[in-house]
Amino acid sequence: MRFWIAVAAFVAAAGSAHAQPCDRQAFEPCQACHALTKDAGIKPGPQLAGVIGRPVAGDPAFDYSPALRAARAKGDVWTRERIDLFLADTEAMYPGGWMGSPPVRDAKLRADLLCALGGR
Ligand code: HEC
Repeated sequence: MRFWIAVAAFVAAAGSAHAQPCDRQAFEPCQACHALTKDAGIKPGPQLAGVIGRPVAGDPAFDYSPALRAARAKGDVWTRERIDLFLADTEAMYPGGWMGSPPVRDAKLRADLLCALGGR
């Protein structure tokens, strides 16, 4: 079933000139804690609307861990590369951070996640 959904998504994407095939369903487990819109209300994690290019700890409504607040204070910004590393090993990048989600070891899955977050 998933295979055919992927095929359908690929065919649909191939039809438009610039779109890359990308599996937005990858973001589904993240949605338990994150929204991709600013007005989604209270969630266990910060909203991620436009997170690529945004300062670390950039949701003013969210109470971040000291680890992420320190990163914001020193000027860290969520580039695609930084998000990729963060998802691959959150604890290595910001020890003591509060994101209680397992590392995403699969590079293809991380690429799909970045795509869902609004990157290419
Ligand atoms: C169990 C809840 C939970 C899940 C599931 C989760 N996160 Fe998070 N996430 C958090 C929390 C809490 C933070 C804030 C961490 C801190 O303050 O140290 C966070 C922070 C982030 C940030 C940094 C946001 C910012 O404004 O600086 C990104 C990017 C992110 N998560 C992406 C993801 C992605 C992609 C997934 C799915 C693979 C995911 N998260 C799954 C709870 C979660």
